[in-house]
Amino acid sequence: QRVLKVALLGCGTVGAKVAHTLLTQRADLAAKSGCVLELVGVAVRDASLPRPGIPDELLTEDPAALVADSGADIVIELIGGIDPPRQLILSAIEHGASIVTANKALLAKHGEEIYAAAERKGVDIYYEAAVAGAIPIVRPLRESLVGDQILAVMGIVNGTTNYILDKMTTEHQDFATALATAQKLGYAEADPTADIEGFDAASKAAILASLAFHSSVRIDDVYREGITGVTSEDIQAAELADCVIKLLAVARLDDEGRIEVRVHPVMVPRSHPLAVVSGANNAIFIEAANAGRLMFMGPGAGGSPTASAVTGDLVTVARNRLRGVENPAHSVYQGLAVAPMRQT
Ligand code: NDP
Ligand code: HSE
Repeated sequence: QRVLKVALLGCGTVGAKVAHTLLTQRADLAAKSGCVLELVGVAVRDASLPRPGIPDELLTEDPAALVADSGADIVIELIGGIDPPRQLILSAIEHGASIVTANKALLAKHGEEIYAAAERKGVDIYYEAAVAGAIPIVRPLRESLVGDQILAVMGIVNGTTNYILDKMTTEHQDFATALATAQKLGYAEADPTADIEGFDAASKAAILASLAFHSSVRIDDVYREGITGVTSEDIQAAELADCVIKLLAVARLDDEGRIEVRVHPVMVPRSHPLAVVSGANNAIFIEAANAGRLMFMGPGAGGSPTASAVTGDLVTVARNRLRGVENPAHSVYQGLAVAPMRQT
């Protein structure tokens, strides 16, 4: 059976789950992908930390060398942030590897450069886990709905802030306690400012808008407010109005056909389907000209849910590679303008 070499960059909340899956479910993954997926190295910051179940000889503190020298067919990037992931992914592409990443911050800032490099080199880049954890949403926009006209995408795309707002509402927890638990449960980013100030949701909104409208939308194009200004008094006021506060991301076309993307807290009536989205779950509505209204809901953060999406991408890029086909990251054929930011 053919063997594809897989290099894993990062072995934290998500990476450790992916490594575990690769090491313990070899036969299942081989049956699904049509090849043996051989883990050839795992790059971490500190190789002396205990990593149960991961052989020491796989660990390295030199991700650049792993990318350049391992002959990896597929590189999975789960370090997070802009540097070094940007250089590592570009290098992996130059070395002819297909890419799987969950790095929304990177794609919302440097997606154009990375997608173009992958397309030039004829390799795949898949990033289902970059938006809404386990929920399939990138692939539906990229593939299933590509024949339709998307009119709007909106919903809850950050698990940490949904968890915090939910705990403040249902258990009257204070902000700091709820955030600390979200961090402990592996929902938050390495720097949780990205979650609570809305940057993470804005990155995801930019990625969704780019896919939905076949255009290039960057995080800097997104109007953004986080939840640090939401007080327990606000939560109570919402309750009195039979509403809950949710951090929503909205991407839609305005009256002039420009893309408008924003992230901010919203009072959602309790009767609305988004009001019942609890804990670190996410939910996304898509409105399309022919399909009508679609809703996607499920775990939006955490090691295992995110590893599920990463592993799905891994099997898909392995299948593509075996067949010698490549699936472009997204097309920007519409190239729509982005509307100027405005407070709503
Ligand atoms: P963690 O912070 O838990 O893990 C990061 C990993 O990267 C660690 O293993 C760390 O090593 C390693 N690392 C950091 N810097 C370097 C470096 N310079 N060289 C080599 N290795 C390095 O992050 P997560 O697993 O939570 O997130 C990974 C990615 O997945 C991010 O892009 C994140 O946005 C995304 N994501 C996360 C989700 C979640 O729920 N956690 C959900 C969806 C996406 P060490 O272990 O030695 O510290
Ligand atoms: N920190 C992110 C969240 C992880 O809470 O949604 C999933 O992308």
